This record gives sequence, structure tokens and C-alpha cells, in this order.
Amino acid sequence: MTQNYNITLLPGDGIGPEIMSVAVEVLNVIGKRFDLKFTFQTALIGGAAIDETGEPLPSATLDMCRNSNSVLLAAIGGYKWDTLPSYKRPEAGLLGLRAGLELFANLRPAKILPQLIDASTLKKEVVDGVDIMVVRELTGGIYFGKPKGIFTTETGEKRGVNTMVYSESEIHRIGKVAFETAKKRGGKLCSVDKANVLEVSQLWREGITKLAAEYPEVELSHLYVDNAAMQLVRAPKQFDTIVTGNLFGDILSDAAAMLTGSIGMLPSASLGANGPGVYEPVHGSAPDIAGQDKANPLAQVLSAAMMLRYDLNQPQAADLIENAVLQVLQQNYRTGDIMSPGMKLVGCRAMGDALLQILEL
Ligand code: IPM
Ligand code: MG
Repeated sequence: MTQNYNITLLPGDGIGPEIMSVAVEVLNVIGKRFDLKFTFQTALIGGAAIDETGEPLPSATLDMCRNSNSVLLAAIGGYKWDTLPSYKRPEAGLLGLRAGLELFANLRPAKILPQLIDASTLKKEVVDGVDIMVVRELTGGIYFGKPKGIFTTETGEKRGVNTMVYSESEIHRIGKVAFETAKKRGGKLCSVDKANVLEVSQLWREGITKLAAEYPEVELSHLYVDNAAMQLVRAPKQFDTIVTGNLFGDILSDAAAMLTGSIGMLPSASLGANGPGVYEPVHGSAPDIAGQDKANPLAQVLSAAMMLRYDLNQPQAADLIENAVLQVLQQNYRTGDIMSPGMKLVGCRAMGDALLQILEL
């Protein structure tokens, strides 16, 4: 029997629409092979939404996402909207989507692909075999804590305020996702905090440590965030799964991504307790190359694979897409961001066509 899925597409800004159209073509081909029917609906977010409606996350978009099986997002932001006040910027749309769908768990894999090992700025022996999953808390911490804002004191001086806060239940639910993830991977979990200075981190460490009793098969360790940043570039192979708060996760996941040489290859999943997840590339909207058919669509395509795996429970379809990505690299196709001497330089559409050719076989 055909399985039906309603998917909300959020192409967003910059290169978003170009890479999204490749992912949609890939999903349609996969659908035929596995008897899955995708019904796509497109909605506005980010700068594109600001231009049309004045808001970065129109309520119609959030409603459509809530009522779908899953959400595929490309990228948001661009120079054009950079001077708007923070609550009106494209980024506010993304944060609103995370909060609105309660996507508290962000999974960011950083795995080195043998075909691209020379793209890393680190020595081959340091990065060869790196396979890290960063589990970032996504709806709490300093991103959402209150009080927040810019206030004027009695003396007329301005003060900028944000608050880093985690409650026990928030620590517990992200901890559970992290332990479950580590259990299915290499069985090692490193929790990253700043417990030598911050009370919020002391509670974090206590909560994660308590959970460890439920997961005897997972080996738990703790690192302070400054040391974790250093270890990530010094000896990244020591890490399997990392769990950390919103801000530390934002920073460390970019560092982990760059170990692989190209942020243009990395997908991510943002998951809630139930309801649809949001799948998006780790990279941004790259406004400098937008509309020029130069973007790398592979992270978007791999995000669609993560969607099939986590939200739609179609692991075989996901495997097929991931293998096709390895094969196009094996055939030496490269977009500009991962280009190296001797390889075949292609644009976004040609990279998509090469993928479709493999998937249609
Ligand atoms: C990310 C981005 C976002 C974040 C921005 C665009 C709001 O950097 O997804 O990592 O800080 O979470
Ligand atoms: Mg970031």
C-alpha cells in the first residue's frame, strides 16, 4: 500500500530555493522506488517571509508545519535584512519555528567522508575516521532565558541582558535523547558544560550524571566547554556523541562541522517529543552565490535522508540516498565548495542530475 506523507517545504532565502528543488526531485524518485507518496506544500520563512508579510514566521507557516508529517527547511537570512531589529530578523523566524514546534533536540552529525578527506584544513591522520554526533539542546538556555533585552538604567546607561537557564526537566529530556543516541552509536557520551563557573552548568552536570544510571551500556564523561573546543581540534577521534546546551552546541557544532572540511555536506535534524521534526542543512543561505547555480545541494539532500530515517521511519530509503551521495563523490563530481584538483566541477543542478541518474538505476 502506498504510504502518504505531507511535507512542508521552507526554502527560505539565498541558495535555499535552488538546493530545495534538488531535494524534492530526489524525494520524488525515492517515492517511486519505495511506493511512498509525498505531498509537498511550500511556506514562507525568514527574509522571504519578511518581504511578503512583514514577519519572519507568519502564523500560516507555523500552522502548516504543525499539520504536516515533517518539515524540510533550506536556509534563512541575508545582508538585506541584517539591519532590522533582532525580533524582526530572519533568525527570529528560525528560533520561533524551533520554539513553536518544541524542537528541543538538535542532532548534528559530523562525519568525515573518505572522498573529501583532503578538504579538511586539519592533517589527514587527525581527521581520518572522525564520526561525531552533536546533540544540542535547542529551545532553552541563553537563547530563550528571561530576562532578556536592552534596558536603560537609572543613570541612563544601557545594559544588554540575556539569561542562561535550564530546569531539571529540560536537562532530563535532552539527556535522554543523548543517551539513546549514544547507545545506538559508539556507546560513548561526552557532556559539555562550564560547571567550574556557572551554576546552570552545575545543575546540568548533576542531571546528566543521574541519568547515566539508566544507561549502564553508555560510557559518560564530562568536559568544560573551553577544553572541549580545544580537544575537538586537537584529537577529534576521541568523541562519539556530545551533548550540550544551546549556546555551547551552536559553537561546538560549527567547529565539529569544519573538521569534515565542508559545512556544505552536513545535514541536521531538530526533534520534539512528538509531532513533526525540522530537517535542514547546517550551512547558511550563502547570499553571495545565490541564484548562480553554484550551491552544493548535498547537505539538503542528506537532510531529506535524515527526515526519512527519523520522522517517516523509512531507513532503507534513507540509506539509498546516503549511498547515492557517496557515489556522486566517487564519480568525482564536486561543487565549488568541495572542489579539489583533478575533480569535475559542477553546479547545483548538475550535481542533482548526477544523483538522480544513480537513484533511477
Ligand atoms: C544555527 C544557527 C542559528 C543558531 C541562527 C541562524 C539563529 O547559527 O542553527 O546554528 O544560532 O542557532
Ligand atoms: Mg550556528
